[in-house]
Amino acid sequence: MKPNELSTPYYIVYEDKLRRNLELITSVSRQSGAKIIMAFKANALWRTFEIIKEYCRNCTASSVNELRLGKECLGGEIHTYSPAYTDSNIDEYLSLSTHITFNSLSQWKRFGAKAVEAGVSAGLRVNPKCSVIDTDLYNPAKPGSRFGVSAEELSEGLPQGIEGLHFHALCESSSYDLEKVLAAFESKFGYLLANLKWVNFGGGHLMTREGYDTDHLIKVIRDFRSRYPHLEVIMEPGSAFTWQTGDLVSSVVDVVEDDGIPTAILDVSFACHMPDTLEMPYLPAVEESVAEELSNGKAWRLGGNSCLSGDFKGDYFFAKAPQAGDIITLKDMNHYTTVKTTMFNGIPHPDIVLCRSNGECEILRHFDYNDYKNRMS
Ligand SMILES: Cc1ncc(COP(=O)(O)O)c(C=O)c1O
Repeated sequence: MKPNELSTPYYIVYEDKLRRNLELITSVSRQSGAKIIMAFKANALWRTFEIIKEYCRNCTASSVNELRLGKECLGGEIHTYSPAYTDSNIDEYLSLSTHITFNSLSQWKRFGAKAVEAGVSAGLRVNPKCSVIDTDLYNPAKPGSRFGVSAEELSEGLPQGIEGLHFHALCESSSYDLEKVLAAFESKFGYLLANLKWVNFGGGHLMTREGYDTDHLIKVIRDFRSRYPHLEVIMEPGSAFTWQTGDLVSSVVDVVEDDGIPTAILDVSFACHMPDTLEMPYLPAVEESVAEELSNGKAWRLGGNSCLSGDFKGDYFFAKAPQAGDIITLKDMNHYTTVKTTMFNGIPHPDIVLCRSNGECEILRHFDYNDYKNRMS
């Protein structure tokens, strides 16, 4: 089937673009000596793992669902991190993970011994408290963050059994941001590194974005490795793997105008199918739009086909007024977008329960791993 034979709406992933990213990531890994693993949370389209596997089999998982998918479809090391494990899921986490990171000392105290006994390499997430992200929603290092142990909490050193430290403070960031965070990490936690086996630099390294200084990244990693030659450096980017590898293709289904503002209504929804555009928020690029000076100056909104009043984005400019049947291509809608329209992070979906008037409860629906897996492909 050729693209022009497909019916909208559809997400489309381009193999050649994916391979380009994978080649770049592999080359950075080779030149820097860092182990670069894929963070599942940004891409769980497991049918694409056949391609990804050729370059990278190791991943990071943040839920039992992601863990199972990683085991089934990638088959390499699985580095697990979740803000909190529970009595009911820790055994499953440990049975599938090669590495596990604990978010707090209380989690370590509760489950650390089990991890050591299971032979899973255990780490602790620390918070370098160095903010380089402007958008609070994506800033794990902002004051009051629930992520990671602070330097003050470790004043008595690391508990026996911890083999690695993990920090994650970046999002769509540059190598220069990493350099800043790494300096903060070393100044706060460097004295703890002597007896460890690994350090995980987390995600957010957008090395496949145009203009990213990969030479500088390689230098930052190599310099770190020369200061701590005994440590394995792990990085777990998500977005970088699938950055600019796919689009969401839609059609205009109607055109309306109010108060002089025209809206082209699409057969997709920003709220349902591109939630980051409203959460972040950001204005997604649209292939068919043009710069204002190339249009008649009329600003358009693109509207989602949901009932949410705020389900629209704009302003866009077009060389020719959009009309029903026109194609609208929303660019770069693979990383995070496809997972956010399913079960983000593989977090188990709540049951749906009907409580009858007599107080009896009936579970109408329970969602399991197959629901998670089968909502994607
Ligand atoms: C702990 C952790 N690791 C890795 C990632 C992947 O980050 P990115 O997709 O920005 O590279 C995230 C994203 O939220 C994360 O929370």
